[in-house]
Amino acid sequence: MKILLVDGTIFGRKTGVLLEQVQQYIKEMNSDLELEILYFANLKHQILDGSPLNEDMKGMIQKFEDAEGYIFASPIFQASIPGVLKNAFDMIPPKAMRYKPAAIIGNGGTYQHHLVLENQLRPILDYFRCLVTPNYVYTHADHFDQDNKIIDEDVQIRLRELARVFVHYCEVSKTLAKQPVDMQ
Ligand SMILES: Cc1cc2nc3c(=O)[nH]c(=O)nc-3n(C[C@H](O)[C@H](O)[C@H](O)COP(=O)(O)O)c2cc1C
Repeated sequence: MKILLVDGTIFGRKTGVLLEQVQQYIKEMNSDLELEILYFANLKHQILDGSPLNEDMKGMIQKFEDAEGYIFASPIFQASIPGVLKNAFDMIPPKAMRYKPAAIIGNGGTYQHHLVLENQLRPILDYFRCLVTPNYVYTHADHFDQDNKIIDEDVQIRLRELARVFVHYCEVSKTLAKQPVDMQ
């Protein structure tokens, strides 16, 4: 089962570090899952304005379509998710992520914007009808040291728990037909 871990930042390393930690926890819990991190910082982003898509955007869409589960890690920009992440969602066919498991991680400069994940990112994944895990993890600058190492034990516990529930959701999703029953 292919799992795409999406690092929604285009600047720093913290969201990537969180994803790499979750990747490690998932690997320890189920070594059969095929895990790939997609770093948005490595892509040539193109705004969705009707122009033909570049190769990076086509490749990104393909990865979303091929994946059977997702971990989304988003930085907080201006009290919201970053434009590149919303722009990416706008490019994904509405049924591509249907009934596939998803989990959410977020990172901001401060505590203040933790509800962005619940109030802005989760509704988008609900629209796609992802199986979103009930737990998410929000971190901020104080949870990291100067080298972007996670220094908060509680964050580690919550990342591990998120991984545990996500792995279970992967199993559940295998048994759920992706087509509505009257279209089979
Ligand atoms: C353009 C921009 C806007 C930001 N706006 C917010 C914000 O509204 N609230 C907040 O908590 N942090 C804000 N931040 C801080 C980022 O969320 C934080 O630096 C980022 O999550 C660090 O993750 P990274 O190292 O993976 O890039 C902003 C940062 C940038 C660059």
